Amino acid sequence: MALAPEFLEELRARLPLAEVIGRRVKLMRAGREHKGLCPFHKEKTPSFTVVEDKGFFHCFGCGAHGDVITFVMRTENLSFFEAVERLAQAAGLEVPRADPAEQARARERTSIGAALEATCAWFETRLWMPEGKAARDYLIAGRGLDEATIRRFRLGFAPSARGGLQGALAREGVGPALLVEAGLLKAGEEGREPYEYFRGRITFPITDRRGRVIAFGGRVLGAGEPKYLNSPETALFQKGRVLYGLAQAREAALAAREVVVVEGYMDVIALSRAGIENVVAPLGTALTEAQVAELWRLAPAAILCFDGDDAGARAAQRATERALPLVTPERTVRFALLPPGRDPDALVAQEGPAAMRRLLDGAGSLLEFVWRVETEGQPAATPEERARIRARLEARVRQVADRTLQRQYFAEVNAWFRDAFGPGRGQGGRARPGGDRRGGGPRRLPPPPRPAAPAGEQERMALALLLRHPALADEVAEELAGMAFRDRALDRLRQALLDALAGRKDLDSLGLIDHLQQHGHGRLVDGLLDPATYRDVRFLRGLAGPEAAKRRWRGILIPIRLQTVKAELEQAKQDFNANATPEAQTRISELRALELTLSKQMIEAGEGGPDEAPWSEDLGAERA
Ligand code: UTP
Ligand code: MN
Repeated sequence: MALAPEFLEELRARLPLAEVIGRRVKLMRAGREHKGLCPFHKEKTPSFTVVEDKGFFHCFGCGAHGDVITFVMRTENLSFFEAVERLAQAAGLEVPRADPAEQARARERTSIGAALEATCAWFETRLWMPEGKAARDYLIAGRGLDEATIRRFRLGFAPSARGGLQGALAREGVGPALLVEAGLLKAGEEGREPYEYFRGRITFPITDRRGRVIAFGGRVLGAGEPKYLNSPETALFQKGRVLYGLAQAREAALAAREVVVVEGYMDVIALSRAGIENVVAPLGTALTEAQVAELWRLAPAAILCFDGDDAGARAAQRATERALPLVTPERTVRFALLPPGRDPDALVAQEGPAAMRRLLDGAGSLLEFVWRVETEGQPAATPEERARIRARLEARVRQVADRTLQRQYFAEVNAWFRDAFGPGRGQGGRARPGGDRRGGGPRRLPPPPRPAAPAGEQERMALALLLRHPALADEVAEELAGMAFRDRALDRLRQALLDALAGRKDLDSLGLIDHLQQHGHGRLVDGLLDPATYRDVRFLRGLAGPEAAKRRWRGILIPIRLQTVKAELEQAKQDFNANATPEAQTRISELRALELTLSKQMIEAGEGGPDEAPWSEDLGAERA
């Protein structure tokens, strides 16, 4: 069967020729072409040319010529279909299939898959047998895991003795050749028997997004080198395309519209056990573009966690470089920096899940992080120094490919820059000392302002909070009665809610919701209670007790009042311009003072103090 030309076109379009060839041949740019030493014959001076915009390579020495598919066929010794298959995988495309050869390969892939699955089950069984005792002790007593978590992540134990896995799988009809292909056996040297890759290690199955085992990681018990081994790359497993824990994280990430990325296997497992289930990790390398794409298939925001030390900061910096060209208004990354010397596993163990939750809630935006990296500790006493900072910031912002977002980033960076270094900001360009969370640098910059919530969100949050916690009404009804929401429907619901609560002091949350539904507010109420409709669902968390609800209420109300005050201030200024009376002047001063007070309160509330209820309670509240 021939493959559809459209499909082949798409494949060629998605894989830049120079990139594919560049993986095997060191290429140098020469005008619009690339040149390198020909991989198809021996030569000392480069006569191998890649013409990217025409989509072919040509060697002036040996006459080799072809496109991306030919290149892969010849260098990897594959058939046409195999090469297409390999390239399609790299491009994230599905090959439209029908021909027998391809079907045979698909069958083979399933049988590698079957071998991996059988191996996973065998490792799991070992863990619960007497021979797995030390491994079990390590996981449970040593690392604080419970049986449910171990089973959920299908952890296992690969015994030290050679031959066990081979023997067991032979009995299931899986021969050594297949195990070698599956990356489970190493071919022995010089005609010796092949032997198991993982021995004396705890095994962590690595799966595809649907939970099918494609590889393993293996950890020594306690100290030892190397600490972790990963399966070699196979037909099923390409390290840079896989995220550990994806299958387990999937549901939670889709629901939360957020996915957390940590560095290690154990971090994924520890967070998941702590109730933060939307968590994955790359496999010991920096995030690849393919992995970032995979993250965004799950959720529009990925929170990348890095160690608070220098290595972590460098890794985070590399991640910004990867992310800047890719982010759009719809999909982004945020950054959470851990305290120095802790990984998420250790943080949860030592300070509890709430500490980790707070860290994630406080994650900074990509732009905030870029700002920090480029400004923190930088000399800014002279115009030249300030211009250098600015140039670096602008260079980073230019990396953003999405034009709308790029414009927005420029606007915000400019505003922050004015705030930090602009005229009137103290002597010698000294920035206003601010709440730099990490500290340390010779100068401390104000944290960039938090972006404002979309219009109406605060109002919706306030109403949702009351729906969940009608008891709040005792304290806040008066405040709520004194407000007018800009959105008409919301304002009607505000009124209806007040009426309902005034008439029936005994209504609990369900009763209140029921009442409003019966009075024709069903749709709006459902919408208000749907976490997916909020840009920021933090306010729905930590609502276990009335005290927590009260704190949240204040956190939500301040910005609403601030908006009102700002609008009134604008009006007062116009009044003053029209008619400069002393009364108008006084009114402006009053409103300015109020604005300042509220702004301060908002910053304090936004610092996210220790007001979270414990995570277990949070879950209860969210599921209630
Ligand atoms: P870490 O050493 O931070 O992993 O390496 P961890 O999960 O926190 O380890 P422990 O069990 O708590 O001590 C991060 C990741 O880097 C990869 C693994 O994927 C690991 O999870 N790695 C690390 C390796 O591939 N090989 C190694 O020798 C070490
Ligand atoms: Mn660790």
